Amino acid sequence: MKRRTLLIQLLGLGAAGVAGPALAGSRSAAVGPSGAPFPPLLGPIPLPDDGLSAAEQQRHYRRIRLVDRLQVPEGYRADVLLSWGDRLGEGAMGFNNDYLAFTPLGSDRALLTINFEYISAIPWCAGYAEARGRELPFAPLIAAMEQAGGSVDAASLEASSPLRQQIATVAAAALEDLGIGVAELVRTADGGWRHQPGKRDRRVHGLSGVDDPAQRLRVSGPAAAVFRRQQRLGFNDGLADQVIGTFANCAGGTTPWGTVLSAEENVQTQVVEAVYADGSSPAPAACPFRFDGRRLAGLGNPFQLAGNKYGWMVEINPQRPELPPVKHSWLGRFRHEAVAVRALAGQPLQVYSGCDRHGGHLYRFVSAEPVADPRDPANSRLLEAGRLEVAQFNADGTGRWLPLDPATAIAPQRTNGSVSVPHSDRGQPGAERLSSDAELERYCRRFRTLADLYPGGGEEQMGAILIDAHLAANAIGATPTARPEDTELDPRNGDLLISFTMGGSDEGGSADPAIFRGPEGQTPWPFGWVMRLSDGDKTFRWQMAATGGTPWEGGLGFANPDNLAIDSRGDIWMVTDRSMGDSATDVFGNNACWLLSGGEAHLFATGPMECELCGPCFDSDETTLFLAVQHPGERNGAHRAGEEEIQAFQLKDRSGAPLEQLRQVPLGSNWPSGVPGRNPRPAIAMVRRIRPAPPAAPGRRDRSGAGAWWSAPGAGAGPDG
Ligand code: FEO
Ligand code: CA
Ligand code: CA
Repeated sequence: MKRRTLLIQLLGLGAAGVAGPALAGSRSAAVGPSGAPFPPLLGPIPLPDDGLSAAEQQRHYRRIRLVDRLQVPEGYRADVLLSWGDRLGEGAMGFNNDYLAFTPLGSDRALLTINFEYISAIPWCAGYAEARGRELPFAPLIAAMEQAGGSVDAASLEASSPLRQQIATVAAAALEDLGIGVAELVRTADGGWRHQPGKRDRRVHGLSGVDDPAQRLRVSGPAAAVFRRQQRLGFNDGLADQVIGTFANCAGGTTPWGTVLSAEENVQTQVVEAVYADGSSPAPAACPFRFDGRRLAGLGNPFQLAGNKYGWMVEINPQRPELPPVKHSWLGRFRHEAVAVRALAGQPLQVYSGCDRHGGHLYRFVSAEPVADPRDPANSRLLEAGRLEVAQFNADGTGRWLPLDPATAIAPQRTNGSVSVPHSDRGQPGAERLSSDAELERYCRRFRTLADLYPGGGEEQMGAILIDAHLAANAIGATPTARPEDTELDPRNGDLLISFTMGGSDEGGSADPAIFRGPEGQTPWPFGWVMRLSDGDKTFRWQMAATGGTPWEGGLGFANPDNLAIDSRGDIWMVTDRSMGDSATDVFGNNACWLLSGGEAHLFATGPMECELCGPCFDSDETTLFLAVQHPGERNGAHRAGEEEIQAFQLKDRSGAPLEQLRQVPLGSNWPSGVPGRNPRPAIAMVRRIRPAPPAAPGRRDRSGAGAWWSAPGAGAGPDG
């Protein structure tokens, strides 16, 4: 029996009994001003700005159905710019596009730098032949892997073994679909953009340099000394300080001098994350290849990739394809989500980045030398010397920066009962969990400073600390946070905005409940926050600027904030990433793009089924918003007509009265083709206003001038207009 039929029977309903309005509508202009510069979409739950009375909310939200489209408000359109498999440089558009960086080359040409994060095995396998034009041996490999018990260390097989060859073929194809791409764009006659392949088109992927040493990536800073060291506790890949490839490229940032920073995030799925006291990695056998058709992991194993060379911030110059990307080790090795760069003349460079894991930290790099000219390409050198610090938050809205330095005292905090620290047997890689005061005191007696945990001296010692940044930060008392995703600077006042996607925990850590609480102090609060942090020299102040959750629980109506983009008015555009099939957040429906403005959240776009929206990014005159649609159909692959499930939710209308909703939810996706049965593809969309923009005010040519894409026709759009 099909899943849909089963669910409908369980609910005692026929399909006709649940058909409600499709979520295609915008809020009607007749209902009065919402505060948004566009007519907000009606989402799956009642929102303060939906323009409906309590009685109307009861009628509208009782029966709804989600739709497999990228929906934008009335008056706007969304078009696909590039999708998985399209030709790009010497390769192709990779899978699961995430961060997007727009680099203008005059008014009519531009570069778009694109991150490719990870492989969603179900839609990747199903769509590979169509997208990439060749067949891979998925079926025999799945069968062989099952026979082998699910995981295989490829190096343990004979070189001629068919299984080893199949593993290498599939793993190479997957790694080549990850990394970074650069696409040249030209303006179209109607003011949009299209890809025009050019000499700056480029692909750097997970295996760049595996055959051609000239394509390898560089490493700057102290970790290079660790990589060059001959004597080590762990694995030697034989490459010294050269690196093969980049993968798990999640979000990133742009620098004022025109380069792009690409963040390597969840590398632990593909290579060994734990390291020894000297910063070296265990052998790749510790992270074997795994593949069952639903999950693909251990991609580094068949290529003997050393885990300590991944999990870095990578700088790439989209305008200079001849320059190798650089992994800047002073920025630390952890699950980097994103980055924000503050470059002010006469002051040290400051670079912020969060580690997206339960209990991950917020970091700040401060350069040794001051910035002379923020736009000088030589500023990349400032990333090669300085100090890395990690945030300690206090519940009273203050905080301070702790240096990740050999001399810093060991002072772990058992914030939620326990804390993971570098293993006290320093011959062991990875972590040990301290769960009692007695264990903690014993640890602190044994290790007084980071130098006791990471012996040696000079660059090798500092490099080992930077390579093991997360555990070193735990050891010195950094605050475990709520999965920091994006970090962005507010252009108006320089504050740092951080999206913390959710409070929660796993075996590795959990968010500090004194800091990360719901509107009424609830912990854990799984719906996320946007924090505003005003930085100082050694201390900072923080407050939550927006809190996720349903309106009837005090939230703004969104869940799980991820990437942010700030427009020239200072409004925050935020996309969400709630994992599909999570009962706590299913009520929020498909991932979406919101405008945060004036203390309210306005729904601007909703994504197709089972996707997350990523990489919001404007072109220079803010007439186009680029959005990366990542992993449509991640759980169920291609949608087929009739494959749907019915979900039931207990909501509340704006008067607080209960509202029972039945929701029709398509399983899988056909986006962007929209053809039933056809495989979905990750792709980049361009959102533009259809109605012509009003003419720019005389003399106003700055980015905040009238005519920006979000402004209502005829409305003055400048910050002071
Ligand atoms: Fe790749 Fe934390 O999102
Ligand atoms: Ca993200
Ligand atoms: Ca995410």
